[in-house]
Amino acid sequence: MDKLKVAVLGATGLVGQRFVRLLVDHPFFEVVALTASGKSAGKKYCKATKWMLGPDFPEAVQDLEVLETSPEAVKRCGYNVDLVFSALPSDVAKELEPAFAREGFKVVSNASAMRMFDDVPLVVPEINPDHLHLIHVQRRKRGWKGLIVTNPNCSTIILTLSLKPIVDYAGVEAVHVTTMQAVSGAGFLGVTSMAIIDNVIPFIAKEEEKIQTESLKILGRLYEGSVKFADIAIS
Ligand SMILES: NC(=O)c1ccc[n+]([C@@H]2O[C@H](COP(=O)([O-])OP(=O)(O)OC[C@H]3O[C@@H](n4cnc5c(N)ncnc54)[C@H](OP(=O)(O)O)[C@@H]3O)[C@@H](O)[C@H]2O)c1
Repeated sequence: MDKLKVAVLGATGLVGQRFVRLLVDHPFFEVVALTASGKSAGKKYCKATKWMLGPDFPEAVQDLEVLETSPEAVKRCGYNVDLVFSALPSDVAKELEPAFAREGFKVVSNASAMRMFDDVPLVVPEINPDHLHLIHVQRRKRGWKGLIVTNPNCSTIILTLSLKPIVDYAGVEAVHVTTMQAVSGAGFLGVTSMAIIDNVIPFIAKEEEKIQTESLKILGRLYEGSVKFADIAIS
């Protein structure tokens, strides 16, 4: 089987590095393009990236030139890119992911920007792969040949995986959730080291809302081209 050619947007960041690590030796994928902000564009990937995932920098991509994050730059990379994985900050993703989809790219995003749009699948493959049907709705509505599929907030994934069998078997009326998330969840600049010593961080802005809304969408039912949200009280 020919490997799928993939690009990673935001490849120098923490999540982007994780994408690269997972993709670089994967039997289905070949990483052909890496993008980041203007400050990294033009540099070799190994020079632009403060590698955070252990001692071994992935050799196969160390000399790739980091591209600016635009559909035009990725089109010029010399390959037909089959899939684009996005690890962009949310405010940037909001503008750029639709720009990629408009230009025909298939975007799979880790960012929150597009997750709650009616026509964007928010998928945990073990739970709601049927929501991918929304891609047809999305293409019809937005008139683009590309697509955007998103994955949820990290805590939402764990919560919904646990809830799904209970919802199916017995139904659930209300859930009370407490999360203890890794410091890395706040990104590379995240929480300063002095603030985390001997401490717990009691609040991460927007996390609670994401757990509530995203979980109800994922556990919802696809009905006549849209998702009918699950009726569960989450607090
Ligand atoms: N689903 C999940 O479980 C999960 C978990 C954590 C994070 N996330 C999401 O994943 C995304 C990335 O998080 P992160 O922690 O990896 O962030 P990060 O470490 O700050 O990395 C951000 C990446 O985006 C690039 N970038 C920044 N501004 C840009 C711009 N204006 N144009 C183009 N590229 C730009 C950066 O390039 P430079 O290096 O050149 O600045 C870097 O490659 C966020 O949306 C975050 O919320 C999801």
